[in-house]
Amino acid sequence: MKVTVIGSGYVGLVTGACLSDMGNDVVCLDVDARKIGLLQDGKIPIYEPGLQEVVRRNVEAGRLHFTTDVPAAVQHGTLQFIGVGTPPDEDGSADLQYVIAAARSIGRHMTDYKVVIDKSTVPVGTAAKVKAAVAEELAARGQSVDFAVVSNPEFLKEGAAVEDFMRPDRVVVGADDERAVLLMRALYAPFTRNRDRLLVMDLASAEFTKYAANAMLATRISFMNELALLAERVGADIELVRRGIGSDPRIGTQFLYAGAGYGGSCFPKDVKALVRAAQDNGITLQVLTAVEEANERQKKVLVDKVVRRFGEDLTGRQFALWGLAFKPDTDDMREAPSRVIVEELIRRGADVAAFDPVAMHEARRSFGDLPGLRFVADQAAALQGSDALLIVTEWRQFKSPDFEQIKATLRQPVIIDGRNLYDPGLMASLGIEYVGIGRGA
Ligand code: NAD
Ligand code: UGA
Repeated sequence: MKVTVIGSGYVGLVTGACLSDMGNDVVCLDVDARKIGLLQDGKIPIYEPGLQEVVRRNVEAGRLHFTTDVPAAVQHGTLQFIGVGTPPDEDGSADLQYVIAAARSIGRHMTDYKVVIDKSTVPVGTAAKVKAAVAEELAARGQSVDFAVVSNPEFLKEGAAVEDFMRPDRVVVGADDERAVLLMRALYAPFTRNRDRLLVMDLASAEFTKYAANAMLATRISFMNELALLAERVGADIELVRRGIGSDPRIGTQFLYAGAGYGGSCFPKDVKALVRAAQDNGITLQVLTAVEEANERQKKVLVDKVVRRFGEDLTGRQFALWGLAFKPDTDDMREAPSRVIVEELIRRGADVAAFDPVAMHEARRSFGDLPGLRFVADQAAALQGSDALLIVTEWRQFKSPDFEQIKATLRQPVIIDGRNLYDPGLMASLGIEYVGIGRGA
């Protein structure tokens, strides 16, 4: 099938690459000429495991193209995915300007039947706005061309994006047009063939499902983070509690990890947008409002632990920080808890020596020139001259470090671990003072 993907960021690029891998003829469009230039040169603008290989083989096979040429891109695909950003507006609601601009581009240049597919995360009612925008542009040209609008939210996780897209738990398709549903079924058949996981529903329910999923996952995390605070006080270990409850299939094992707070480009903004959408409808989402507040508090928990150990005034102290990205296997710094932690430590007078295996470049861009923050070449270098080691992101290479070296290099053998990577018993036996999240036992 001929497919156009508008917006070649995390979602657009992965969607385009994976669809081309199944034999579709895909054009990825972006307004960012730098991004398209890199892609045309065979370079991937983001860090995403496995993506480079999928892109390379499909570009070589002539099935995957990158362009900034809007008319040509729109004319190419019968299926037009919109995968542009939907950042939060000042009031927390999703800013739809990029989605509507993409819809207008389609209306301005289409000459035959199109299925316009909202893949971006968008609030209920957006499909109708997209439909109106396309129709308006067609009318302005005096054209009458048939088209359908479909909602097809994306559930991939960064760091596992290719795997998630290739083997989806489900594919949600919201539509009110039979022909469009048939095309979507055919497009996704190779991804869902052995497992009937394509769920067709009305547009509003599909749009709502995406927010409901992210809100539910964020709720689990905030809930566990709050339980962790209490576990510390009452002498329980949240890691044992997590296993104790996760083994109940009604609860399940995933997304129960207490940590340094959730970040990324989606949970924070989608929770805000859903709370806002509810307000606009006269409803206060009390649980979700608390989820967000708990997360704001959680992002400061590591600093609270530093203050408890080293005092309010951190002048003259230096802290080693391992992990800057909002999660492992990505270079994405959007809403990363490390931002709050670094800024708070520096505000209290400390210096920070930070290392991330992949996100150093993005981190430099995101922090700018922040006095007191130094980026170091490797994880060992961060330890030199530091009073304690703080672990913020659970990269694999941090899981079994050289503990003797850590102990010998730090000014004081203190590890404050925001991801509960180590065994407290082992740390005690090594003579390392170890503070985790929710580990009161
Ligand atoms: P992103 O910022 O990485 O990419 C968006 C791209 O769209 C940018 O490259 C931008 O230049 C381009 N763009 C903006 N306006 C355009 C236009 N009019 N025409 C062509 N290109 C245009 O964003 P992302 O992380 O891929 O997220 C996109 C959407 O998908 C959001 O709604 C997000 O909530 C949702 N989503 C993201 C993820 C994720 O893991 N990142 C997962 C699921 C859903
Ligand atoms: C999340 C969802 O998992 C995806 O299904 C969804 O498509 C995506 O948002 C989106 O809409 O963009 P992502 O943000 O890439 O994916 O990463 P997650 O693995 O969900 O992690 C989000 C944050 O939660 C990270 O900061 C992570 O450290 C934190 N987290 C996750 C925890 O603190 N505990 C956990 O148990 C799981």
